[in-house]
Amino acid sequence: MAITILDKTFRPYLSKEQIQAAIESIANRINTEYQGKNPLFIPILNGSFMFASDLFKRITIPAEISFIKLASYKGTHSTGNVITAIGLETEIYQRHVIVIEDIVDTGKTMSVFLPQLTHQQPQSLKVCALLHKKAATIHPMQIDYLGFEIPNLFVVGYGLDYNGQGRNLDSILQVDE
Ligand code: IMP
Repeated sequence: MAITILDKTFRPYLSKEQIQAAIESIANRINTEYQGKNPLFIPILNGSFMFASDLFKRITIPAEISFIKLASYKGTHSTGNVITAIGLETEIYQRHVIVIEDIVDTGKTMSVFLPQLTHQQPQSLKVCALLHKKAATIHPMQIDYLGFEIPNLFVVGYGLDYNGQGRNLDSILQVDE
């Protein structure tokens, strides 16, 4: 069923069952691959809160989670936007870190953020994203755990917003163009 959010119409794209099945399979892999490693999950707010919550509930090995928010502002240098992490209170030196993203679009956010984490010398660093718009890639990167490859269309729901709205939906909808 199509729904209207603000001035746009969205139609169903990924059902809650499809999303939960993908999360189950990612969790199974992480539970196996991170046995004895006490991984530290770092979800990026706001978009990833629902994904991170459902994923973390399925993690059965000892693990920790610490949410962060990225603040983006225009730098004073010609290098463009500066992205800083707010709220990372857990020491990541020598830790096995898994960054949790809702969606990787151009890859810009991760291309700036990941080197900042690497600088703090984690023992390992992997990226887990629910969605990836491969065709929108400007900054190529490896996504180690991925839910779905999706077309280059705007999506909403399951944590993702359109102008602040729609994050509460338990499925993912695609803009009707
Ligand atoms: P990137 O830096 O271009 O990879 O963008 C990543 C961020 O853009 C995500 O964390 C989202 O907050 C936002 N974003 C990208 N595409 C969408 C979309 O289709 N719906 C909602 N948010 C999106």
